[in-house]
Amino acid sequence: MADKTTTFVIFGATGDLTQRKLVPALYNLYRKVRLPDNFRIAGFARRDWSDDYFREQMQQGVQEYSGNSYDEATWKQFEQMLVYVRGNLKSPEDFEHLRAYLQDPAPGNVLFYMATAPSFFDQIARYIGDNGLADESKGWRRLVVEKPFGQDLESASALNDDLHTAFREDQIYRIDHYLGKETAQNILFFRFANTIIEPVWNRHYVDNVQISVAESVDVGRRADYYDRSGVLRDMFQNHLLQLLALTAMEPPYSFEADPLRNEKVKLLKAVQPVRLEDTVRAQYEGYLETDGVASESTTPTFAAFKLFINNWRWQGVPFYLRSGKALERKTSEISVVFKRPPHMMFNMMDDHITRNVYSLCIQPDEGIHLKFEAKLPDSVQETRSVDMSFHYADSFGDGSIPEAYERLIHDALNGDAALFARSDGIEVAWRIIDPVINGWQETGTPPMVTYPSGSWGPAEADQLLAKANHRWRLECGQH
Ligand code: BG6
Repeated sequence: MADKTTTFVIFGATGDLTQRKLVPALYNLYRKVRLPDNFRIAGFARRDWSDDYFREQMQQGVQEYSGNSYDEATWKQFEQMLVYVRGNLKSPEDFEHLRAYLQDPAPGNVLFYMATAPSFFDQIARYIGDNGLADESKGWRRLVVEKPFGQDLESASALNDDLHTAFREDQIYRIDHYLGKETAQNILFFRFANTIIEPVWNRHYVDNVQISVAESVDVGRRADYYDRSGVLRDMFQNHLLQLLALTAMEPPYSFEADPLRNEKVKLLKAVQPVRLEDTVRAQYEGYLETDGVASESTTPTFAAFKLFINNWRWQGVPFYLRSGKALERKTSEISVVFKRPPHMMFNMMDDHITRNVYSLCIQPDEGIHLKFEAKLPDSVQETRSVDMSFHYADSFGDGSIPEAYERLIHDALNGDAALFARSDGIEVAWRIIDPVINGWQETGTPPMVTYPSGSWGPAEADQLLAKANHRWRLECGQH
C-alpha cells in the first residue's frame, strides 16, 4: 500500500515568514531528501492568489533565502507540491473547504502551521477542533505554533487552554527558533558529551555567567508589533530564557522531549524573582520618532538583568542577561567566567590576571572560545590572555550550519518535540518576566534611559555589573 499523504498546512501563507523561512526550509529538506513521501504543502490565506502565483512568490523566497541552494531543476519538482487554498481564518465554511481538501484523495497525516498574527491562534485551533481536523483516527495531526506565545502569563495560559480544546499537549509544537540553532543545541553536547566541562560548571568554579543577544538592526518596519511587545516579550521570555536553561540545567537522563524539557522547566522554576534594582531598561535614541511607535512609548528596546538561580549548583552565582536592538553589532554569545586561582604565586598584581572564560558563540561567528593565561615569552613572570578556539567553519566547512527552521520543521514532521517549548515551560518563563514588566510600569523603577544607536547600550548596563566588579565580555567574532 502506498504511504499516506502528509500535508503541511500553512495558515498565513501569504506572509513574510512563509516566504522567508518556512518554504525555503521545506525546499532544503526536499533537496536533502528529508521530507516524507507523498508530501504536499497547502498554503491557506485570504488573498486571491492562484497556485501559480503562490508558487512564484515562494520561488522568490527560495531564491533569496535558502542559502544559495536554489537550482531550477529541483525547484521545478518541488513546486509541484505547493497548492494554494484560499480561505478566511474567520470563516467556518472555509475550514470546511480545507477539510474537503485534506480528505482528497484520502485522509492522511496533517501538520498545521500557525504562521499568522497571534490574535488568530485560538480561533484557528477552535475551527480545527470544530471540523474534526485534529482527529487522529486516519493519520497523525500536529500543530506548530509560532511565537509570541501570549503577552503575559494570563494570556499564555488561556492560549494553552484554547489549544488543548482541540489538541493534546503532545500534538503541539511551540516554536522557539533559537532552539533550532545548531550552536544552541551544541550547548548540551559541549556540556554533556565531554567529561572535562561539567566538573567545573558550577558555583565552585564559576564566578558569573553572561548571556548577550545583541542585534544591530533597529525595529524597522516591525514597529507596530514591537511597540506592543518590547525586548522582554520579544527576546527574553523566549530566546534568552531558553539559552539560560540550556546553559544552567542539570543533565537529563536522555535526549528525548520529556526528560529534556523536565530539566529545563526545573531550572526555570529555580530562578529567583528578579529584583527591579537588578534590571536596566532603555530605548535607543530616535525610537520614539519611528513610524508606528507611540509618541510617549515606554517600550524598552534594550534590557539587562542580573538574576540568581536558587539551586545547589548555582547558589550565589550571578547570571547577567542582556539584549537590545540598534547595538554596535549582531552577536549572540554566552560567557561563563571562572573564578580567579585561589593563590597567586606569581609576582604580579592581582588585577593583571584575566579570568578564564568559556564563550559559546551562538551566532554569527559560530564556535567556542576558551580564554586562558599564558606566560609572556621572554618575560620573567608576566602573563597574557590567549585564546583557544573552535569555529564551525574550520572544523565542518562553510555552510555546514542549516537554518534553524529546517531542523525544527524536520523534527515536527518526525514527531520529535525535544526542541519545542512545552506548555509549562512557556508559563514558567512568563512567571519570571511578568513581574518585571509590571514592576517597571507600576513603580517606574528603574527609570527608562536612552542609548545611542550603534553603541553597546546604556552606561547603566555596565554599572549593573560594575557593582559586583564584573564587566560584560564580548569574545565572539574577535578572533
Ligand atoms: C525574533 C524576534 O524572535 O528573533 C526579532 O521577534 C529578532 O525581533 C529575532 O530580531 C532574532 O533572531 P536571530 O535568529 O536573527 O537572532
